[in-house]
Amino acid sequence: MTRLRVIIWEMEKIVSLQKSALKEISAAKDLDELEGLRRKYFSKKSGELAKIIKDLPKLEPEKRREVGQLVNQAKVEVEKALEEKSSQLSAPSSQLDWLDITAPGIPTPEGHLHLITQAIREISGIFERIGFVRRRYPEVETDWYTFEGLNMPKNHPARDEWETFFITDNIVLTPHTSSGQLREMERGQLPIRMINISRCARRQSDISHVPIHYEFEGLLIDKNVSISHLKGVLTHFAQEFFGPERKIRLRPYDFRFTEPSFEIDVICHLCQGKGCRFCESGWTELGGAGMVHPKVLENGGIDPKEYSGFAFGWGVERTYLMKSNVNIPDIRLIYKNDIRFLKQF
Ligand code: PHE
Repeated sequence: MTRLRVIIWEMEKIVSLQKSALKEISAAKDLDELEGLRRKYFSKKSGELAKIIKDLPKLEPEKRREVGQLVNQAKVEVEKALEEKSSQLSAPSSQLDWLDITAPGIPTPEGHLHLITQAIREISGIFERIGFVRRRYPEVETDWYTFEGLNMPKNHPARDEWETFFITDNIVLTPHTSSGQLREMERGQLPIRMINISRCARRQSDISHVPIHYEFEGLLIDKNVSISHLKGVLTHFAQEFFGPERKIRLRPYDFRFTEPSFEIDVICHLCQGKGCRFCESGWTELGGAGMVHPKVLENGGIDPKEYSGFAFGWGVERTYLMKSNVNIPDIRLIYKNDIRFLKQF
């Protein structure tokens, strides 16, 4: 080989080494691969560029200068590429490939209060806004507050309607919130505007009854209270709770502790008053009400000649099921505590 050809051959080799080194470096996928490339070109023993540099002293001085310049330039370029790729590969963004900040979030599952707790709060709110005060009276009660003081003497057949659980002859699981009426009167603070919401128990279980349910009882006692006040308060309740289109009506009934007594009906939520298989008449029954019996006022220490009042009371669960947007076929589902069911509301 002539001197010139040797130089050209050396120089081509360096240029092609530099080219392939840069290509391999830019394709490296991780730091290990990059380290392998660094060794391939620069390891003291066998590195391809390192070898040429090591052999430089063996070359003739002129050749040495030209080849030396080129190989040093190649060394600088390749080292720079290694450096850059290395910092690229160790940057946090490429190490966190699994994190896609544009992916939609996974919503945290959120619970809610039980349907009946929500209904109780809504009912209390409706009455509290017109001046009633929330109360809660004993759920285990004596015969006097439950029956006798409410004008139902021992052995009176009316008692049968309440399907009561007896703890002893004289103590019962209260079957209705009306047992709170006398306790409220005994506080001796007139006028009275009470909304008593408590748990009640009755020996019943079918698609429209549970053995333990909540009732709410309104009691208002003041001077010159009349039936129209009762109707006004109940209309307010029905329209707030069910919606403005749900009218109510009072239907004569019989309770021992109110006189006169009524049952309250509301326009049926299924047919909106037209009459359907469920309600027949276009109306469905909410619960009982009436003007407080003078004897009950007396039993509560209130003079019936000076004061009068009204009372009403019925089940929270039933009332909740009569909302037009609630469609629950069996009241017992409410207390099965099946999250899949409760989650729907
Ligand atoms: N306590 C009665 C019942 O459970 C309803 C009622 C309440 C009636 C208040 C009149 C006055 O059936």
